[in-house]
Amino acid sequence: MDLSYKEKQDKLTIRIRAHKEFANFDIADWIDAFLQRKPRINILDLGCGNGNHLELYLKHVGPNGSVCGIDREASLIAEAKARYAAATNLSLQVGSMDDRFPFEDGHFDLCFSNFAIYNAADPRKTIGELKRVMKPGGELVLIGPTRNNAMEIYEFNERLTGTAIDEITLIRTDRLRCEILPVVQDIFANVVEEVINSKLTFPDRDDFIEYFQATMLYEEGAEKLGISKDAMRAACSSEKNVILSKEMLALVAVKE
Ligand SMILES: C[S@@+](CC[C@H](N)C(=O)[O-])C[C@H]1O[C@@H](n2cnc3c(N)ncnc32)[C@H](O)[C@@H]1O
Repeated sequence: MDLSYKEKQDKLTIRIRAHKEFANFDIADWIDAFLQRKPRINILDLGCGNGNHLELYLKHVGPNGSVCGIDREASLIAEAKARYAAATNLSLQVGSMDDRFPFEDGHFDLCFSNFAIYNAADPRKTIGELKRVMKPGGELVLIGPTRNNAMEIYEFNERLTGTAIDEITLIRTDRLRCEILPVVQDIFANVVEEVINSKLTFPDRDDFIEYFQATMLYEEGAEKLGISKDAMRAACSSEKNVILSKEMLALVAVKE
């Protein structure tokens, strides 16, 4: 079963913007606080997308450190390159987490994969590659959704399409905890889990609908069924202040 999702540039931008504008807690703040725990030198961002978190990494490594980002979507890498054109210690490459990484053993003291690792075709291979490119004492941070993430959107989708959450979406949303965590625990001796909660309040139902239309759930269901915007408005729980709760899991593993 292929669990990967082909990300589209405009849709990723819409979702990232909604999290920045409407969430009471931005995961970037968690990442920033994590980065501050100790000095950082070489950071890898696997599945970096359009470079959402690269600014934070560049701030923490300083001019003598380096940041590498990999993503399989050339358009997202191009957008990130344009955004950070002035950064001389940033390397961005089109590549897949399913292949051997183009880095030597023990290069990075910190590897991140934010909202991306659940796309891995073979998590054991990808986590093994991450460990290979990490220095001894280096840290790996994997962030993704839990099963409790965004339940309101699945309820909305069910009201709209009559279809409960589909099997692929269900597996994907819980893949970090159910499938990837045991692999990380197998490969690394020291793994810590942290649950992170956030709540998005969309001021108007049209803001919520815009977010919904930027999800895989919409693409797989309502879009294929040709459901109208008016039907989406009618299926909203309220006209103003539509709530979406997010529950995320961060796994932090240390290489011995
Ligand atoms: C939800 S986005 C997250 C982007 C970014 N990390 C962030 O937090 O904003 C998931 C990213 O994973 C990338 N991705 C999916 N499968 C991949 C693969 N096999 N190898 C590398 N990147 C992949 C997608 O192209 C997309 O940019």
